[in-house]
Amino acid sequence: MTHSAQDPVTELIHHPYRPPAGWQAVPPGVFKASTVIFPNVAALRARTWKSKAGYTYGLHGTPTTFMLEERIAALEGGTHCVLAPSGLAAIMMVNVALLKAGDEVLLPDNVYGPSKEMARTLLADWGIAHRLYDPMDAAALAASISERTKLVWLEAPGSVTMEFPDLSGLIAAARARGVTTALDNTWGAGLAFGAFELGVDISMHALTKYPSGGADVLMGSVVTRDEALHHRILQAHGRLGIGVAANDAEAVLRSLPTLALRYHAHDASARELALHLGRQPVVKRVLHPALPGSPGHGHWASTCTAAAGLFSVLLDPALAAARVDAFVDALRLFKLGYSWGGPVSLVVPYEVATMRADVSALHGHLVRFSIGLEAVADLQADLDQALAGLG
Ligand SMILES: Cc1ncc(COP(=O)(O)O)c(C=O)c1O
Repeated sequence: MTHSAQDPVTELIHHPYRPPAGWQAVPPGVFKASTVIFPNVAALRARTWKSKAGYTYGLHGTPTTFMLEERIAALEGGTHCVLAPSGLAAIMMVNVALLKAGDEVLLPDNVYGPSKEMARTLLADWGIAHRLYDPMDAAALAASISERTKLVWLEAPGSVTMEFPDLSGLIAAARARGVTTALDNTWGAGLAFGAFELGVDISMHALTKYPSGGADVLMGSVVTRDEALHHRILQAHGRLGIGVAANDAEAVLRSLPTLALRYHAHDASARELALHLGRQPVVKRVLHPALPGSPGHGHWASTCTAAAGLFSVLLDPALAAARVDAFVDALRLFKLGYSWGGPVSLVVPYEVATMRADVSALHGHLVRFSIGLEAVADLQADLDQALAGLG
């Protein structure tokens, strides 16, 4: 359709000016759209949202979201990536893609809480059963797999109890029965270990955490190396009606170049503070997979070259719960709130009994810390002044 001079009102919408082609700059640009314009009817009929070879509708991808998908796939050592509007939505996308009524999914007992809740409620309503397994016992997982099991979720470490499982053993147990494995790789972030080298089929990542790094974006990703598996994820994505906004994708693209620097800085500060807390008499146990004595430390050491900025402590069980709450409330730089991976250090007290059937190895009041990017000496001073109140 050619343009001719029209009413200025129409000109505001159909002005013929096109900027010169060949723009190049460091940022990849932000492309926003609901409608995607096709050059002709033949192209409209030929293109399908079921393939990423072309554009069909904003919900199914723009140059900005496709660009981010390629970079996240590269980060994790996979070949295909599909974005979702949160980490939890990415978990849902995997479940919808792989499970149907009559199937069963296995979850680690210490899995991210809302994932367990999804299995207990939505999946159960849809006739999909779930079973919890002890992530620290690969033989227990092998024994839990049945003819109905179609998916095994993995998380390393559990993001509150910080137990690091024998990933290779768990993956081998699932593989031996031909069951697909999906790893919540948010903690590893594609930097601590190579998920696909270990043999997982699907790596899910809450980009909300380290890839965003700003505590301002919610996003998730699902990476695969297998074409057929990717196709199933892509179909689920298209049918669920979930998409990622271009400005959010751009925010993550902007943060990715500093991801590794930030991750290792969070790691170094967290280890220093975890060691410091471990020296305090009121701290009965430090749960940080890179520290000897932490559950699964040996698995961490044989699997990982780095750690995230996340750890928990078990405070003396003899303390009254109200005193633990008062300790958390007394922190000033550490803010009270969920999530991790941003610049601000965070703290949350948790009930271990809500996330582990057997709490015998995790006795005490659990407090989880997410270490931000503040000066470590200031964070230590903040912990010390709050600990002083515990006596
Ligand atoms: C381990 C883990 N997986 C998944 C998620 C979900 O991510 P989102 O908050 O983007 O839904 C979280 C969020 O806290 C998490 O900690």
